[in-house]
Parts: sequence; C-alpha cells; structure tokens
Amino acid sequence: MLRPKAEKLSLDGGPDLKDPDLYMRNEHQEVFKALRATSPVYWNPEADAAGFWAITRYDDVEAISKNPALFSSAKENGGHRIFNENEIDENNTEASMISLDPPTHAAYRRMVTPGFVPKRITGMEDRIRARVIRLLDRLETRGANGNEVEFVDAVAAALPIEVLAELFGVPDSDGPKLFEWSNATVGEDDPELRVSDDYMRQCIIEMATYAAGLWQARVETPGEDLISMLAHSKIPNASGVAEPMSFATYIGTFILLVVAGNETTRNSISGGLLALSENEDERKKLLSDPSLIPSAVQEIIRWVSPVLHMRRTATADTELGGQKIAKGDKVVMWYASANRDETKWKDPFTFDVTRYTDTHAATQLGFGVGQHFCLGSRLAELQLRILFEELLKRFPDIHVSGPVRRLRSNFIAGIKEMPVKLTR
Ligand code: HEM
Repeated sequence: MLRPKAEKLSLDGGPDLKDPDLYMRNEHQEVFKALRATSPVYWNPEADAAGFWAITRYDDVEAISKNPALFSSAKENGGHRIFNENEIDENNTEASMISLDPPTHAAYRRMVTPGFVPKRITGMEDRIRARVIRLLDRLETRGANGNEVEFVDAVAAALPIEVLAELFGVPDSDGPKLFEWSNATVGEDDPELRVSDDYMRQCIIEMATYAAGLWQARVETPGEDLISMLAHSKIPNASGVAEPMSFATYIGTFILLVVAGNETTRNSISGGLLALSENEDERKKLLSDPSLIPSAVQEIIRWVSPVLHMRRTATADTELGGQKIAKGDKVVMWYASANRDETKWKDPFTFDVTRYTDTHAATQLGFGVGQHFCLGSRLAELQLRILFEELLKRFPDIHVSGPVRRLRSNFIAGIKEMPVKLTR
C-alpha cells in the first residue's frame, strides 16, 4: 500500500503541522514560534490517522531523542515518519537502522559506519573539491553574459548525488536515476515529484532491480564501497546468531542511504545560498574571512533544518510539558522549531555566520541527537564547507535572481528551483 498523502484538516483554529502547504509557502517558522510560546507540546489531530503530539522546544526534542526506551523509532511501533511504517510499506522492505531501537539498531548501524569514519571522509576532500570545481565551471558557462542559471539543478542537486555515487562505487552517470528515485520517495505530497502511484511503483521496481544488480556484483567482486559493506556484513537473527542480511533489509538500507545522502545536503546548499543572498552583511563577513565558513555551515543547517521532523512512539504512559502522553501515542519532534528556540540562542531568527565561533553556542539539532544522530553529518559538513569556499571565491556576487519554488512536504524543507545570477 502506498503512503496516504497528507490531508487538509480543520482544527478549530489550531495550526495543522502536517499540512505540506505550510512548508511550501515557507510559513512554518511563525507557527512554530507561537506554539513554543503557548503550546510547546501540542496535540495535532489528523484527518486520516490518530493524531500526534508536536514537540517544538529544543530541550524536549533532545530529551525524547536520548530516551529510545520510552520513545521508540521501531518500525513495529510505527517507525520514524508521521505515517505508520508498519501499516504502509510501499517498498516491501524490512526496517533499516533508522526504524530500529537499541540494541538491534547498533548492529545495523555498525555495518556501514566504516564508510563514514573521519579518516575516510577527510580522504574524500580533494575529490569533492575537484567535483565542486567542475560543477562551478559548468555554472560559469551557463551563467555567462549575465544569464540566469537554475542553481538547484546545476550545483545543489548535482554535488550530493555525485558524492553518493562515489560512496556506492557506481559511475556518475547513474546519478540522475538516484536523483529521480530519491525525489519520488520523499515527494508523496508533491504532485510534481510523485506523479502518480503507478509511477512510484515503477520507481520502486527500478530501484530494487538496480540495487539487486549492485548487490550481486559486490558479492562477486567486493570493493571499499558502502554496497560491498552491506553485501558482506552479518547481523544477528532473532536467536542472536549472525547471518547475512536479508534482501528486504538491504533494500530498506539502500533506500535510506539514497534519500538521506541526497535531499538533505542538496537543500542545505540551496538554502544556504538563499540565506546569504538575503543577508548581504553575512556574505561580506565570509568574503573577508573565509575561516568563518565552518561556523556558517552549522548556522546554515540550523537555519534551513532540511529534515523538518522525525517521529517516535511512546512505549509507556508519560508526561511532557504538562501534557499526558499515552502509550502508543505518536510524538513528532520538529527540528525546524527546536533550531529557533529562543531559550537556546540569542536572536534565533537572525542568520549569523559567526554564531558558531562561540564554542558555547548551543549545538544545532538539524542532524538529530542521540542514538540515531546522523551518520552522514561529517560528509554533509565537508560538502557544504568546500562548496561555499569555492563558490564565494569564484563568484563573490552570486545571488538569487528570481522566485524560489519550494517542495510541498512536511518532512523535507526543500527547494526545487532557485534561479541565480553570477554577477550583479
Ligand atoms: C545536511 C545534511 C543532513 C541532514 C540535515 C541530516 C539529518 C539527519 C537526521 C535529523 C537524522 C536523525 C534521524 C532520527 O533521529 O530519527 C539523520 C540520520 C541519518 N542520516 Fe542524515 N542528514 C544529512 C546528511 C546525511 C548524509 C550525507 C548521509 C549519508 C550519505 C546521511 C545518512 C544518515 C543515516 C544513515 C541516518 C540514520 C542513522 C541511524 O538511524 O542511526 N545523512 N540524518
């Protein structure tokens, strides 16, 4: 069964955080601000399901994320999305690590962790820089003579896809397929991306066929890539005996990596450039002192919060922010709100590239926290740092030159189109 699309709902004046139009119109931050002030643990009914608790304050998001025994990510309890993954399994997969709880979660996470250790990520720096330079060459050609260029297509989408292809050990020419499948997977509320249920079914078949071919190739000829790690790892079965992972688990993990490694970094890149276009003084600071770029990268992720939320399910009755949460209730942690929490940052609604030069600044929660803290955070940070180093050096005046079109989604804060000009 395919996922239901988010329905519109009348809420007696309360906001509907599930409404994908809220994020497409980029109006969510004002709604979250009001909720943090008046109703930080807010009951959000759903037209097509049981409703959920919306968690909007930083401390509550952190506390929930660090207590997986009480707030489960497990697929059998509903999983990590607002819809119930155990009822709606469009991919017919077994749970991947993001929908598992301890102790099983650790065994799955260990399988691919070697692909993300600091030494390995640092070792990718020169290759990522070469990719960035190539993409900027192309941008320069397209944007010559003051032409407007579509930045998402030319750079923001292209870089993470190429890096993902490298992680998988596949040619760059496979990138467009990975891009299309990823869009379709997270695009259930955007008719431009999820054209129809039949189209999604077709994408799933293609993805599974492609992933199966890779698996077979890596079983026969292992390499250093993530697919080889999956094809050759063992995980404990119900009796604790280690055995090769099932094909359904592999597909689930493959899809997780395709989506996680792609949408998030893409939208941080485009959202970051948009923020710099709208905040000229901040751009000037980076131009005069590029050593601020690592701080800017953290600020961009705080500002954009590319993953809007993750969901947990209460495993017992409990209380949060004065609200009684019952066993089985869905609890949705809004990172986009936690990252603007007034109690954590001075002027959270100000985009400040120097914010993270203060070592006491609160950690941004865009990568999550706790058990499921983003496995690809270092890789994403590296891509963003190199991209902004090279982009600002080469095109100090690059700016958004036309309307930004956003993704219709309550899960990913996405930018689909963003025209830029390279010079004033
Ligand atoms: C700016 C870019 C990124 C953002 C904002 C981001 C955000 C997140 C968040 C919020 C989670 C936590 C999920 C939870 O607590 O339930 C997560 C988990 C994860 N991310 Fe990322 N991510 C980014 C980039 C990447 C990249 C580049 C990769 C890999 C290529 C990746 C792979 C993963 C994986 C595998 C998990 C699951 C970890 C687990 O369940 O233990 N992410 N990410």
